[in-house]
Parts: sequence; C-alpha cells; structure tokens
Amino acid sequence: MSAVKTAAVVVGLLSFGLLQGRDPQESGLHAWTGPGLLCAAGLSLLVLDWLRRLLFCPLELLRAPDDVGYIAEDGRSRARAANEVRRRRKTGELPPVYPNGWYRALDSRMLERGEVKNVSVLGEQVAVFRGQNGKAYVLDAYCPHLGANLAVGGRVVGSCIECPFHGWQFRGKDGKCVRIPYAAKVPEFAKVRSWPSCEVNGLILVWFHCDGEDPQWTVPEQLEITKGEWVYRGRTEHFINAHIEEIPENAADIAHLAHLHTPGILSGVDLRYTNSKTWEFLRHDWKVQWEPEAEPNKHCSRMQVKHSLTVFGRHWPPLDLHVVARQVGPGVVFLLFDHSFLGRGVIMHCVTPVEPLLQCVSHIIFYQSNIPALVPKFFLKAECIQFERDVMIWNNKKYVSKPLLVKEDSAIQKHRRWFSQFYSENSPQLRYQRNTLDF
Ligand code: FES
Ligand SMILES: [Fe+2]
Repeated sequence: MSAVKTAAVVVGLLSFGLLQGRDPQESGLHAWTGPGLLCAAGLSLLVLDWLRRLLFCPLELLRAPDDVGYIAEDGRSRARAANEVRRRRKTGELPPVYPNGWYRALDSRMLERGEVKNVSVLGEQVAVFRGQNGKAYVLDAYCPHLGANLAVGGRVVGSCIECPFHGWQFRGKDGKCVRIPYAAKVPEFAKVRSWPSCEVNGLILVWFHCDGEDPQWTVPEQLEITKGEWVYRGRTEHFINAHIEEIPENAADIAHLAHLHTPGILSGVDLRYTNSKTWEFLRHDWKVQWEPEAEPNKHCSRMQVKHSLTVFGRHWPPLDLHVVARQVGPGVVFLLFDHSFLGRGVIMHCVTPVEPLLQCVSHIIFYQSNIPALVPKFFLKAECIQFERDVMIWNNKKYVSKPLLVKEDSAIQKHRRWFSQFYSENSPQLRYQRNTLDF
C-alpha cells in the first residue's frame, strides 16, 4: 500500500475511533466537527493519491492467461473455460513454433544490479542476471552439475552467477564454470549454455537460433529513449493461446481492421457486444498498408496506419493519427507515434513464445517527457482495448495453413512468405503424440 493510502486509512480509522469514543458535551464542539473533518481529510488523501497515480504514475495492465478472450458460460469459471479451449483446440497444420530471432526476456527496469530472475522463453528456463558491472547476462537456468535452478536462490558474484546448491560459479559472458569451491580443478568442459543477449530501449532481449547461429541482425536503438527524451509511461502484458505467427500476421490482415477494430473503444473488448447500438456514435476508421522492407533489412516490415475518429458521423481531423509499425524480426514491433500536438513516442510490442502455443505479449510505451503522462497512458489503454479484441479471436481460433483468401486478402500470403525467412530446416516443430503436445 502506498504511503498516501496508508495515511488515508490511518486518518479514517482515527476518525472512526473518535466517532465511537467522543462525548460531544465534553468537548463543547459540534458533534460531527472533529470526526467529520478527519473523514474529509482521509477522503481527500485518497482522491489525491488517485489523481497522483492517474497523472504521474505509469499505467501497468497485467492480464493473467485466462483473463481475456474466453467465454465463461454455463456456470463455468473463466479459468475452466480457458483450460477447456486449450485442451480441445484444433491446431491445424502448424509452421515451426520457435522462429529464429530476438525476443524480449525482461524490461531493463525489472533487473537491478546483482539481481537474478528466472524467465520462461521458447520452452526453456533461463536465468537472467545483472552483474555488478551493470551488464545483463542470460544463461540456461539449470546447473549442469546436479540441475539446481541458478535463478532460484542463486547469487550474483561480480559478473558470474553462483549456484545455490553447491556453489559452482558460472561466467555471464560465456557460461563457463570458473569456480568449484570444493574441487582443486575446474574441468574445461564445465559450462552452462549462454544465450546471446542485448539491452536496448529499456529491454533485455535474447537471441534464439535453432542451430545456435549468432545473431543475424540487431534490434535498432531508439535514440530518444537512450537520451532520456522519451520516458517510460507504462506497459501491458497478455498471454495468448496461439501460434506466434498469427500475431504479426494481423498487420497484413487489412480486412479485419474494418470489421473488428471499427467499433469505438467505449464498446469494450467482448466481441459479442462490441457492435452494440449504444456505442454506435463512435467509430474508428483505418487506412492501412503493409510492405516488407528491402535488403539489408529484409528481416523488417512496415505497416503504415492512418487512423481517424468519427463521432456522431462527424470526422474530427485534429485527432487523426498516423502510426508507423515497424516489425523487426518475429518478436519485436516499434509502433511510432507522431502527432502535431499530442507529441511523439513509441509503443514496443514484443511477442515472446513461452511454450509452443503460448505467447507472452508486452506493450511498453515510452513518450516525450514534456507531454502529460495522461496522453501516452490513453494511447496505451486504447491500444490495449483494440488488442484484446484480437486476443479473443486468437485464443479461440485454429491456424489455417491453406486459408481461403480473396484477392483483397493478398497481403496475408505476402506476410506468410516474408515470415517464413525466420524458420530454418531444424526449427522446432510441434506434433501430436497420444493426445499430448510434444516435440
Ligand atoms: S547443482 Fe549447481 S552446483 Fe551443484
Ligand atoms: Fe487486430
């Protein structure tokens, strides 16, 4: 609980105590003056705290895997509905499940110097830690000695991580074991797998390649973030029950914008009600173009979005918004905002596969520091509402390898061809084995 909230509660309790124990005759004051004032003070503190959070604190919307996109009918809980959907899903003929590329493991803010965190990425457990030198490292979490998890109770020593079980120490930069406290010699082969990683734009990213190849491109730096001109204003987190490719494919699926994303954000995220008459007065219009980039950036693609808002059938030009969504590899997209008076900033949309059909999606917003936080927070919230409509589709659909497309859907095929560059011969595939999902 924040200090202000605590103060408000204390003031409230005091006033309650006074209301109980006070004898108005004794005090000579009007019966409710003292306690009433204290109540008012408590309420004001709560309101002030609410205003402080609204105006100055980042917006953090973290959804649990069963929070969004499932229909809990017939007395079932949402968690049960989510489990049933996942159990009964038809997957279709899937592309490989882990494309080669950079993926977000954590936000930089989440990892202090000398701290270690256990993160699930691409079906693996990794230990992400920050050495005393300030550098972030990513190693396989399981110790090669007897399998303890380095991130659960492990200790950062300089730029190494020490296993909590027998104290072996592994170097962050290459995973080599540098110390076994009870052995005279450290064997040459004693090491744990280290993942190529980088830290840029307030993100810690790991590189995955199924054949262990080195990174083939870098994640571009957004200089305004490095220089501190754009500051952190919030993030969202969702878990999506779908194949990773379905998420970026949304950018090339132009027809769904007019259908799914046109109802005003006030009509919410539940697709059973988004077309309700009550909210018809507000609508979003989209003009979109999706194109892959040329060499040397063929791992990038670009979506140009022109958004306009119509209220009671009237277009409001000052609120027109032009966004460029630049996708860099399979796991990171930069949504760049540039508005004449609402300022500039970026939402980084990061998709990290946790399991073959479970994606962790984060939206992290950095925005011009001299624009009131409410503006980027509103953008993030609006993006979150539109995104959760897609989540309801993704969580319940199957992947169709040979979709029935019309001419106007041609960008979808183009996107699939573009995305296939992230798979290689040995990319992990998912196959069914006696009703269980396995590799
Ligand atoms: S299990 Fe890690 S040192 Fe023994
Ligand atoms: Fe969408």
